[in-house]
Amino acid sequence: MAARDWTAIRSLDPRPLSDLFAADPGRVSLLSLDVAGIHFDWSKTHLTSNALDAFVKLAGEAGLAEKRDAMFAGEAINVTEGRAVEHTAQRGEGAPESVEEARNFHARMRALIDAIEADALGPIRHILHVGIGGSALGPDLIVDALGRDSDRYDVAIVSNVDGSALEEAIEDFDPQATLLVIASKTFTTTETMLNAQSAVQWMSEGGVEDPYGKVIALTASPDKAVEWGVDETRILPFNESVGGRYSLWSSIGFPAALGLGWDVFEELLEGAAEMDRHFRFTDLNANAPVLAAFADLFYTQARGCETRAVFAYDERLRLLPSYLQQLEMESNGKRVTSEGEPVDYPTAPITWGGVGTDGQHAVFQLLHQGTHIVPVEFLAVIEPGDVLDPNHHRQLLLNAFAQGAALMKGRENEDGARAYPGNRPSSTLLLDTLDARTLGALIAFYEHRTFVSGVLLGINSFDQFGVELGKEMAKAADKGGLEFDASTTDLIKRAFGE
Ligand code: F6P
Repeated sequence: MAARDWTAIRSLDPRPLSDLFAADPGRVSLLSLDVAGIHFDWSKTHLTSNALDAFVKLAGEAGLAEKRDAMFAGEAINVTEGRAVEHTAQRGEGAPESVEEARNFHARMRALIDAIEADALGPIRHILHVGIGGSALGPDLIVDALGRDSDRYDVAIVSNVDGSALEEAIEDFDPQATLLVIASKTFTTTETMLNAQSAVQWMSEGGVEDPYGKVIALTASPDKAVEWGVDETRILPFNESVGGRYSLWSSIGFPAALGLGWDVFEELLEGAAEMDRHFRFTDLNANAPVLAAFADLFYTQARGCETRAVFAYDERLRLLPSYLQQLEMESNGKRVTSEGEPVDYPTAPITWGGVGTDGQHAVFQLLHQGTHIVPVEFLAVIEPGDVLDPNHHRQLLLNAFAQGAALMKGRENEDGARAYPGNRPSSTLLLDTLDARTLGALIAFYEHRTFVSGVLLGINSFDQFGVELGKEMAKAADKGGLEFDASTTDLIKRAFGE
């Protein structure tokens, strides 16, 4: 049985975007907002004031405000795993005891960072962080976005079990000057444990007398880290209630905090907290994550859009699409409601994207003229990240804006292959600058948007049971204890002769 009735959403205003603009001179101010240094513009989507009303009604039926408050209050809203959802407590917004616990864990993290900076573990120049999924994507995004001019440490983040990834990362590292950081919420993830083991071996072969003395563990399972050989004083724990893909604010953010400096990490948390407060205390119809989720749901439920694209017109945000893929698809790629009933409507669209202007010369043809309607999200930053001729940045931004305009306008009065229907939706996020504070707010915005979509879809955004079977089967195949289908058996035989 369906959890939601989308009839009202499906029967919303069918007029094209150009008509919506012509009919309402106040459209841009109705559908744009400024929060935490980010300007959000949804006016090139098909949302209207009627649509907002319909969605606010739906949000009321879904209990969005109550569920949001329950999340911030530390209630066990992750019903399938019986857990609270407390990444916001890491930023100081949540149940007082969880905020207190997060502060203590952060203090411990900071003390270890101070000690490392004071050479307590010997002179360190390189940080080798091994982790995967949520234990890698967030730190990688932050270090890549903000660390370009930092000369504090070289940071390498290795996730893939493909040995080439580790080999490449350590190629220019001196094992004697390397700190090995093992990031794993569970401390059981095969890829991470194998990478960690190989990294210790590389350190040992490189003449490090006590490689385990230079290992830091970031985990919600400290006992397992101890068992693995990490000294208790170098384990930075975080709580189970912080989900893997929401964990960069916890000790999982260690490579960013050490690599960029504690002040930068604190700014990141403060920016996120500002977005938390906006989400928590602002009316639904003026609430950035809520409006973004409304637009997302309009396109999946009313227009049959199966994907959404995110194009960052800023190299510093080039890892954002992959970060969002895990956040959105692992959270909301579900087939049943929180109560376990199959849904009869689409859940998360496929998130994909890249950087502008590169995408314009590769995939934008489909966006403009293909048969799929893909809502596109453009991100751009007013303050340039480079010091070259300002024309670089001017061209970059003008291209971002022109693409949104072209998607909407199309090309009339042309025949056949040259004609574009236009009326293709896009939204734009324009950041004043890309500093830690704004980046924190941006990521928190995406987290809350994902949560809102999950609530309106009636699903639990905080479990991920769908990833288990493949892991189990790979483990079983390794032990040789599983009867596979003929195709898989043949592939294993070809690869290993078994
Ligand atoms: O396989 C999926 C997953 O469980 C993600 O949810 C998680 O971010 C990733 O694996 C890594 O898990 P861990 O931090 O426990 O190593």
